[in-house]
Amino acid sequence: MQFFIDTADTDAIRRAHEMGLVDGVTTNPSLIKKAGKDHKATIQEIGTITDGPISVETLSETAEGMLKEADEYITWGKNIVIKVVMSPEGMKAVRALSARGIRTNVTLIFTPMQALVAAKAGATYVSPFVGRLDDIAQPGIELIQQIRTIFDNYALDTQILVASVRHPIHMLDAALIGADVATVPPATLLQLFKHPLTDQGIATFIEDAKAWHKG
Ligand code: G3P
Repeated sequence: MQFFIDTADTDAIRRAHEMGLVDGVTTNPSLIKKAGKDHKATIQEIGTITDGPISVETLSETAEGMLKEADEYITWGKNIVIKVVMSPEGMKAVRALSARGIRTNVTLIFTPMQALVAAKAGATYVSPFVGRLDDIAQPGIELIQQIRTIFDNYALDTQILVASVRHPIHMLDAALIGADVATVPPATLLQLFKHPLTDQGIATFIEDAKAWHKG
């Protein structure tokens, strides 16, 4: 499973990249706002850190506007993926971008039929939001399983990019189901390393090594 990092915080991306854990980056208007820097400058700085796909989200509500934005965003780097919201206008834009060989990521997916619609439009990635479904007591991971089944039934190339990840279990379940990608917040990425027995074992080894060095 590929790990994309879900942030526009370039320091966090750099730290994760140093551990070899950045196969790509996803951004959205909320993450860009949180990073607090110019949109283009942020995306271009991310492009100096990773050669992986960088999702840049369009803001327009019309396909025409989305395509105009896409024409600008693809000049910001060689690995730009155009992020488009799930809507009829968005699917028109995805179809047009796909015909031009421009990669797309359809976001704000909450049903398997939305994912199928996006795949039929030619989306490179679909981003089902597991955390926001969990937030309203709907098991988000079931959506991932449904999409996986449908995409496998018809050998669809569109990749499942699990988004709105809140904790390591989302990552585990996504990997067990066979999602292609999970985009993970930096804090959740660090949680993947942790286990009390690992910490305890490290402490013991350090203590024992001290005794050994004394000897
Ligand atoms: O990539 C989408 C992700 O950033 C949304 O996460 O926590 O706002 O549901 P969240």
